[in-house]
Amino acid sequence: MIKEILQKEKFTKQDIVNLLKAEREDLETLYQKSYDIKTKYVGNNVYLRGLIELSNICGKNCFYCGIRKDNKNIERYKLNDDEVLNAAKFAYKNCYGSVVIQTGELQSEVNTKRIENLLKQIKKLSNNKLGITLSCGEQSEDVYRRWYEAGAHRYLLRIETSNKDLYAKLHPDDKYHSWEKRLDCLRLIKKTGYQTGTGVMIGLPFQTFEHLADDILFMRDFDIDMCGMGPYIEHVDTPLYNHNIELLPIQERFNLSLKMLAILRIVMKDINIAATTALQAIDKTGREKAIKIAANILMPNITPGLYRDKYQLYANKPCTDENEEDCKKCIDIRTKMAGSNIVYNEWGDSKHFKNRLNFQNK
Ligand code: 5AD
Ligand code: SF4
Ligand code: FES
Repeated sequence: MIKEILQKEKFTKQDIVNLLKAEREDLETLYQKSYDIKTKYVGNNVYLRGLIELSNICGKNCFYCGIRKDNKNIERYKLNDDEVLNAAKFAYKNCYGSVVIQTGELQSEVNTKRIENLLKQIKKLSNNKLGITLSCGEQSEDVYRRWYEAGAHRYLLRIETSNKDLYAKLHPDDKYHSWEKRLDCLRLIKKTGYQTGTGVMIGLPFQTFEHLADDILFMRDFDIDMCGMGPYIEHVDTPLYNHNIELLPIQERFNLSLKMLAILRIVMKDINIAATTALQAIDKTGREKAIKIAANILMPNITPGLYRDKYQLYANKPCTDENEEDCKKCIDIRTKMAGSNIVYNEWGDSKHFKNRLNFQNK
């Protein structure tokens, strides 16, 4: 039955549910198909984005996240400008091609200006060579535009789940945590001209196969350019930890995540898909497994070592005892082990984005 589904041009929701339940030889067939599509449409290449975790100060209170505002058990930090620029220089010197700036969500003119200024400086220090992705949460149209004009050209904002009711169970019931607002922000990001990325968490409490199938259809219908998605990993200092006993075993959340990556690759052939850090938190070679199946983007951490253990969204976050040099050596070896090729000095933009624009201009 899996073989028949895989021959279809377009999957139904039920097809995706069935694929998510694939096991043994069926699973091999699914992964093989995904890998074939990956190599055909985006090649056997991996592009790098040096990850800079700018600050763990966040104005929000998502029930699953370790850096939520009300978690008093972490020390808050903010990198200073020099630290950020030095990290960007490291990426540039080591030919990473791009950086990602990720941070807890803050909406203020001070924050906007600071990021705007950092973007301009990163562009300057790299002679416009470094590509920049932002992952700085929900903002106004004006802020998205200012950051775009300052040099960022890709933006990631995870929808977390495409199901409004499930979203409501994972977030406080107030105007700061609205699913509609999040969707509106994604639309604004796309409208501003960014290569637009989203993603979901996999294996959440209350989440069903149907929800996950809808997540895939959501990404297809929204016509995203990039995706970062990975397993939900519980964090003891969060309200969602109370639902721990209802969770799938962690290994199953990992396996389900790989299936999601494979299905998304088959459905959205030419997008960029990240091998996310959460995969590696469960399985030491989790990111390599993702690359072997579907992913083509790796985000080595280049946050100064001092701060790394403070950006703990979930338990067992990897690379917190390492520094940027360790991660550099590590990814090189690991990607080769996964049979892929790291492309240095290139932005590695989403092919889907280019194809989407060409299509619109016809
Ligand atoms: N497990 C896995 N991913 C998480 N995120 C936040 N908390 C967790 C967790 N406990 C993800 C969210 C967010 C991204 C920055 O990290 O999807 O968008
Ligand atoms: Fe803040 Fe993002 Fe964590 Fe929510 S998931 S609390 S917005 S850092
Ligand atoms: Fe950081 Fe492997 S990538 S230690």
